[in-house]
Amino acid sequence: MKKIAVFTSGGDSPGMNACVRAVVRTAIFKGLEVYGIYRGYEGMIEGDIKRMHSHSVSNIIQRGGTVLKSARSMEFKTPEGRKKAYDNLVAHGIEGIVAIGGDGTFTGAKIFQEEFGIPTVGCPGTIDNDIYGTDYTIGFDTAVNTALEAIDKIRDTAAAHDRIFFIEVMGRDAGFIAVDCGIGGGAEYVMVPETKTDLNIVVKSLKNLRKSKSSSIVVVAEGDEEGNAEAICQKVKEKINDKEKDFKVTTLGHIQRGGSPTAKDRVLGSLCGMAAVEGLLEGRMNCMAGVMNQEIVYTPFGDCIGKEKPLNKEHLKLMEILSI
Ligand code: F6P
Repeated sequence: MKKIAVFTSGGDSPGMNACVRAVVRTAIFKGLEVYGIYRGYEGMIEGDIKRMHSHSVSNIIQRGGTVLKSARSMEFKTPEGRKKAYDNLVAHGIEGIVAIGGDGTFTGAKIFQEEFGIPTVGCPGTIDNDIYGTDYTIGFDTAVNTALEAIDKIRDTAAAHDRIFFIEVMGRDAGFIAVDCGIGGGAEYVMVPETKTDLNIVVKSLKNLRKSKSSSIVVVAEGDEEGNAEAICQKVKEKINDKEKDFKVTTLGHIQRGGSPTAKDRVLGSLCGMAAVEGLLEGRMNCMAGVMNQEIVYTPFGDCIGKEKPLNKEHLKLMEILSI
């Protein structure tokens, strides 16, 4: 293998740049030519592919977003789109690919690899932490810390006015961000898609807390089946039915995707990037390089996207104990 390419795809996450940097520098270290594909699968289809050098990735490890840009491509979902992408890779002599992204990225990579056979190794880049085969995904730690900073600020004003806040965090269909924000932010309750919440219990716990605490924070994962934070707040408000109580809703949104990556995300991104290139050189394909129990592990794409990654039971227990 002499030439490889790297791209970022799907929702960007802090630490993707560290990962790109590690891929480029490891490839050069190992004597490979390395190319950057811009805007994920879109750029692959359009042939937006450029040679990268060691200096191409200077001064990016501390930056959020992704210097390779990202996109969600509809055309890549079609056989015609994938054929165009393949032709462009062949034209550049690309023999191996590093795909940095989440489940959508790996779903595309798996199909593409099975159709055209270009070896691909993935790196888990998403704030959601919903990928099986790695303890944490690149960007999760930064997103939790960003959300926590906001939650701490909301706590100040919530306490000043004795208010109940419903704070919605990202995570798509997973509650990892919500649970860690709940623990770290001292939330009174956390609602996640993985477990069904009885709103009567939320109401009861908020009522019980009222005498001892001046503010209450309920962290809501965006994928919760009771609806978004606004809808849940309305339902709880009606059930509590106390005109003296003041309810507010804050949706943190895309702020969670940006910002300078934490040390953990820089190290994780760098480790996965290095491992992906080493994996390609060892003949690995159709799999993701992740870190579990401080060891680099390679997990087939099929498992990364197909196997459920459960929430940490100890975290859930801790949340329940600490919110009394
Ligand atoms: O997968 C990352 C993520 O930020 C999710 O948490 C969220 O549901 C989604 O992407 C938002 O996607 P977009 O940026 O396309 O609106």
